[in-house]
Amino acid sequence: MFKVGIIGIGYVGNIHIEKFVSIDNVCVVAISDVNLVRLREAKQKFNINKTYSDHRSLLEKEALDLVVICVANHLHHDLTIEALDLGHNVLCEKPMALTLNDAREMIEVSKRNKKSLLIVNNFRWDYLNPLIFQMKNLIDSGWFGRIYHIRLNRIRSKTFPLNDYSRWNLDSKQSGGGVLIDLGPHMIDLGMWLASDYKVSAVFGTTDKGLLKLDNIDDFASGIIKLESGIALQIDLSWSSHHKPSWQIDLYGDKGGASLSPNKNDQENFKLFRLENNELKRKHLSKNFLNITSEKSVQEHVVSCIMRNVASDCSAENAYAVLETIFRWYESASSNFI
Ligand SMILES: NC(=O)c1ccc[n+]([C@@H]2O[C@H](COP(=O)([O-])OP(=O)(O)OC[C@H]3O[C@@H](n4cnc5c(N)ncnc54)[C@H](O)[C@@H]3O)[C@@H](O)[C@H]2O)c1
Repeated sequence: MFKVGIIGIGYVGNIHIEKFVSIDNVCVVAISDVNLVRLREAKQKFNINKTYSDHRSLLEKEALDLVVICVANHLHHDLTIEALDLGHNVLCEKPMALTLNDAREMIEVSKRNKKSLLIVNNFRWDYLNPLIFQMKNLIDSGWFGRIYHIRLNRIRSKTFPLNDYSRWNLDSKQSGGGVLIDLGPHMIDLGMWLASDYKVSAVFGTTDKGLLKLDNIDDFASGIIKLESGIALQIDLSWSSHHKPSWQIDLYGDKGGASLSPNKNDQENFKLFRLENNELKRKHLSKNFLNITSEKSVQEHVVSCIMRNVASDCSAENAYAVLETIFRWYESASSNFI
């Protein structure tokens, strides 16, 4: 049995429990939260054996195969280091940390202790599976030819109430920023993963406080990331806006193009195009590309990688590259673009 312990049983902690307990031979044996009501509710709902109001006791007392860190962003570094130093493999929520120094230290401590450190990148599985894996497979097969541009957007009309600023996400000391550090890790990682390139040569970005009007909290962000391979990622993100929610990935190659929007696993949500004899033709996937078997969730992916001792796409090194890009984007946004 693969034993999991989870620290932080709020919104995302509950989702992790649900996903882990649905995997064969995986058991969530212990959970921790400083909020005793949340702890009790989750214990009853998921029939969890051990609960701890103090995460340190969980880390010291439990023999686990994986500890999942699901607390607010400013606590990721300290709790991850504690868990690694006490001999646990760690899956930490995004963003990895609030500074590059902290992120670097997390990687060093995982190496020193010879323990895995992975960072959650669940969008591929939770919202885009299987279409995004089909897209990736087509990219890697050369169907699009040379890819030169990937546009990704995640526009929401509403995320947090505009009249209640009580959540930690809206306090920059705890969150590190707004939509860019919140949705940026997902969308930048998706772009880099599709491009198979986590090396960045330039970042140009803007951010705005948008509808939230809070200092140091961006509600909207738009940027261009030039990768060393030559591919440009163009990314738009919004928490709140006077716009219809949208979510789309457009891919530009010199032999073909594609548009993908999530939610339904329907071929209408993944359109392939080719310009042939000056006419734009819609193309359809062959069965080979449709029948991609992949893990059902990031949780399944992480368990599988740790059990087989193989490298993961959700590595701390990839997350570090994503975090560095986010900070370069913030820096670009605060400069005068001269
Ligand atoms: N991957 C995703 O799609 C996704 C979605 C939402 C949030 N997140 C990330 O997950 C993390 C948590 O976000 P959330 O929305 O679940 O927050 P939340 O506020 O709903 O939950 C955080 C929980 O941590 C608890 N906590 C605080 N300090 C603790 C400690 N020392 N020990 C144990 N528990 C402690 C709080 O009491 C709370 O219950 C954030 O880093 C966020 O960026 C990821």
